Amino acid sequence: MPLCKWQGISRVLAPPVALLTVKGWLLHSWLKHPMQLLVVGQLHLMALIHGVTASKSKEATLIPAANMAVRSRQEILWTRPHPNFIEDEDRKKKVMERIREACVKYSFFQIENHGIPLELLNRAMDLYKIFFDCSDEDKLLVSPKPGGTVPPAGYLKSPQHSDEKNEHLLILNASSGVSVYPKNPPQFKQVLEEMISHFTKLGVLLESIISECLGLPPNTLAKFNNDRSWDFLIGLHYFPATEAEDNGKSAHEDGNCITFVYQDEVGGLEVKKDGQWIPIAPSKHKLVVNIGDVIQALSNNKFKSATHRVVRPRGKSRYSYAFYYNLQGNKWVEPLPQFTKEIGESAKYKGFFYKEYVQLRARKWTHPPSRPEDLIHLTHYSISN
Ligand SMILES: [Fe+2]
Repeated sequence: MPLCKWQGISRVLAPPVALLTVKGWLLHSWLKHPMQLLVVGQLHLMALIHGVTASKSKEATLIPAANMAVRSRQEILWTRPHPNFIEDEDRKKKVMERIREACVKYSFFQIENHGIPLELLNRAMDLYKIFFDCSDEDKLLVSPKPGGTVPPAGYLKSPQHSDEKNEHLLILNASSGVSVYPKNPPQFKQVLEEMISHFTKLGVLLESIISECLGLPPNTLAKFNNDRSWDFLIGLHYFPATEAEDNGKSAHEDGNCITFVYQDEVGGLEVKKDGQWIPIAPSKHKLVVNIGDVIQALSNNKFKSATHRVVRPRGKSRYSYAFYYNLQGNKWVEPLPQFTKEIGESAKYKGFFYKEYVQLRARKWTHPPSRPEDLIHLTHYSISN
């Protein structure tokens, strides 16, 4: 019996949103040292497409039967000895094809078995809720310093005139040298530091997968993106919607490399696919992953940065947090030669320093434009051929 029926899965499901189920740490070993698995004798990898039907309502319709079938097979897989190296290579190839497909078609997917303990994910969410429940006076103690980092580290509430109604706390990676942790709740700093450590490892892993999916020479993206000082973790509280409006986060693309999102049970995150807004059903066990503008520019549009937004629910708050696996500001971003001159394609973007792009985009945090069309996007650097 084959260990993994990829063709069967792809026939069953034709999703607008992809779900990847990846056992992270061992996958990493497997990508780097395939022979090692022969010794270990187990394969801890499963990637599948999980259907979420496009719907005009706010409901995301899962396909539970197919999902459960795959899960049970996955459990068997994870205790089954690995038969031989050739089959392993074959499986790796198929897995990478599926991940590549997810990145090309959706740029937005979910992962589980990501290596971050559920307990820690929940703990961080609880502490964010406690923090956002503090008085404005307390929260403003960690306001961004004038002339500080971009984006501003610390606590910010959307300005009155903004059409986005939320507040957030942004914490930079420790290697930035900037620390703006609130004193309350007392355990917050320790938990968030732990979260950043986990997310950083996950970012390295996903970046290596994406690099390989793009067909780049080994470690291309890892060598290019070798400074973690611009990575950040951001906790968000969206205020309940009113009769008049429900915008939590306007439609946008992320400017970074890879984003990981953990949302509470309220939901509200939506991704645009083929002109339709598709709700991403919240899950305690899953992280949402999306590709950012840097990957889109480097890959010359081979992988796209997905448009997404947050819709606020009526009558209750929404909480989420996201880790931005980023790029150091002094890096020069332009389409890689593998996607331009080496294949005879012209570059779709002119080169730019990443910090320049971040600064242009960051104006919306303090000076939101009155017209959405005035927001800066990657198209700012587009070359019309
Ligand atoms: Fe985003």
